[in-house]
Amino acid sequence: MEKEAATPALRFETHETWNYARRSTLTLPHGPCRTPMFMPVGTQGAMKGITSAQMVELDVDLMLSNTYWMNFRPGPDVVKELGGLHGLMSWPKNILTDSGGFQMVSLLDLSTVTEEGVTFKSPVNGEMTLLTPEESISIQNRLGADIIMALDDVIPSVTTGPRVLEAQERTIRWLDRCYAAHSRPHDQNLFAIVQGGLDLDLRRKCVDAFLQRDDHIPGYAIGGLSGGEEKDIFWRVVANTCAMLPPGKPRYVMGVGYPVDIVVCVAVGADMFDCVYPCRTARFGTALADVPGGVVQLRSDKFTNDQTVIDKNCKCFICKGGMTRSRLHQVACQEGGGELITYHNIAYMMNLTARLRAAITNGTFPQFVISFMKTIFPRRV
Ligand code: GUN
Ligand code: ZN
Repeated sequence: MEKEAATPALRFETHETWNYARRSTLTLPHGPCRTPMFMPVGTQGAMKGITSAQMVELDVDLMLSNTYWMNFRPGPDVVKELGGLHGLMSWPKNILTDSGGFQMVSLLDLSTVTEEGVTFKSPVNGEMTLLTPEESISIQNRLGADIIMALDDVIPSVTTGPRVLEAQERTIRWLDRCYAAHSRPHDQNLFAIVQGGLDLDLRRKCVDAFLQRDDHIPGYAIGGLSGGEEKDIFWRVVANTCAMLPPGKPRYVMGVGYPVDIVVCVAVGADMFDCVYPCRTARFGTALADVPGGVVQLRSDKFTNDQTVIDKNCKCFICKGGMTRSRLHQVACQEGGGELITYHNIAYMMNLTARLRAAITNGTFPQFVISFMKTIFPRRV
């Protein structure tokens, strides 16, 4: 054990490192999380196409749930009565909720940001609604997740000009309002989200402001990325921001979940990831695998007679059970194959992060990265 940081509701211990990559245990109120970790995303209090029992079976230590939806249906007070999100979802392990602002900005057209908060048109009743930092925290306190997120001013990653500075500075002011409103620091971890666009100076200023508040910040997220910027720029922002953050606290890159990005971000020091991608892409018949391109598009006619499994190294019941690509092709071309592929894709992500952890522990991290990249991006002949 190298470093240890403890706040009332969290412990973070790093066991081994390989250069910037690190294998750690993040212990939260609902048990330990093995990092680097991938956190699947459930919307409206449930995962699409996979049950809580299956997620436990797949070794998922933490899942995300959306504050944004919970605010409308069934509503935070109802969720609280039902034992919080853990009770509502019959999920015994950890949960993380996002603050809601990002969802509104990214999903809803009519959202506007002022110093007070984010105003948006409710998708349920069409009324204009204001989400303030105080309200976001009040909702997340009632939902009861193990990690909750500060309300941040999120802008598209490719934005330039004074709006980037405004968003970064407002995110700091909102962070203070979030901590002032937080009523459950003893059993909920409120993470700060670094903003600042693609500008490393702005990221630095944001981190510096957060470091002044480090005593009451249990973990850090890196936000505002994966919105259409070039990969090398995105990776550079993650690498540089990770290097600015304190070593003894978890680092979470928000909304990042392509396998290649996870491998790179782990290499530069990130610990936690979430993305709807593995589940969403499954519903379009796309399975993740260690093959050229990284995916098997099961709806393609080339799998009509393919008698191999999705991924021969995968231990999920679909691959282990010998269900062929041919059979999955048939299912994926009709309605209903989504559940099987979702299950496999979550298994793939869990396996990928397990392999990254093992490679850090065994001192074989560079070999793993090279072999992974060579598999996904084979040399053209
Ligand atoms: N999800 C993906 N990116 C972000 C972000 O920048 N902020 C928040 N709150 N959620 C996110
Ligand atoms: Zn599988």
